[in-house]
Amino acid sequence: MKTSGNTIFISGGSAGIGLAIAKKLSAAGNKIIINGRSEERLQSALKELDNAVAIQGDLSIKADRIRIAGELKTNYPKVNIIINNAGAAFMNDLSDSNNNSAEKAYDEINTNYISVIDFTALTLPLLLQQEEAAIVNVSSIAVFRSNKYLPTYSASKAALHSYTQGLRDTFSENENLNVYELYPPLVNTEFSAEIGGANGIPPSEVADELFAALEKNQFEVPVGDTKKIHKLVVPITEQVPH
Ligand SMILES: NC(=O)c1ccc[n+]([C@@H]2O[C@H](COP(=O)([O-])OP(=O)(O)OC[C@H]3O[C@@H](n4cnc5c(N)ncnc54)[C@H](OP(=O)(O)O)[C@@H]3O)[C@@H](O)[C@H]2O)c1
Repeated sequence: MKTSGNTIFISGGSAGIGLAIAKKLSAAGNKIIINGRSEERLQSALKELDNAVAIQGDLSIKADRIRIAGELKTNYPKVNIIINNAGAAFMNDLSDSNNNSAEKAYDEINTNYISVIDFTALTLPLLLQQEEAAIVNVSSIAVFRSNKYLPTYSASKAALHSYTQGLRDTFSENENLNVYELYPPLVNTEFSAEIGGANGIPPSEVADELFAALEKNQFEVPVGDTKKIHKLVVPITEQVPH
């Protein structure tokens, strides 16, 4: 799809991968709308972007999702790309019965999965009015293999992955709306600090890969180490009737 002249909403656009994507797409000549919970972080991120505005809000809360979708419709009716990037993750030791594992899982599944389904339903009517539109869901290398540190986070991203496949199939006949899935590996951000994120790739690499994928209409966007596993798994799963 075109990579300039779009109006792009990026959830979690005030830091990490979302901010790197915002910088890349802003420099390429797109209108950028960043979102996050902290107004202070949003204002500081806006200083690094051209042609950008912010909509504060917590996407894990239904009332905020409704308000944000309403603001997009009223103030930015040309929005044609939604990047669902905001995410939640907790270290969740399943061997520790005092670790509130179900509460952590609830927060993760709410932010990483349910919120995306609801926000997509709320913004779809607007996207379907555009000549060219895209939804980009940010999942993870963890959709292919969970681990003992982030078992419930991985499960929530696997749910997002499965939903994204179904969403793409739902609109497969619609040439105006495309559904992308971006699969970062370990990336050096605040989010991953607890799990050794300093050894991860820079967020700018994720942004560069997404940009190249948008240019090529490449809807599956594995990044870095995810490419190895994606190359083995996805061709097999695509053979399953769907
Ligand atoms: N970093 C990694 O290694 C890695 C690997 C694979 C996938 N991912 C995925 O990539 C995405 C971005 O991660 P990141 O590493 O860039 O994280 P990050 O550096 O912590 O940035 C997270 C961004 O999301 C915002 N945010 C968090 N919860 C939100 C909510 N409920 N509503 C609205 N905004 C919210 C944060 O701002 P506020 O705190 O102000 O809300 C911030 O702008 C996540 O979905 C994550 O699962 C990350």
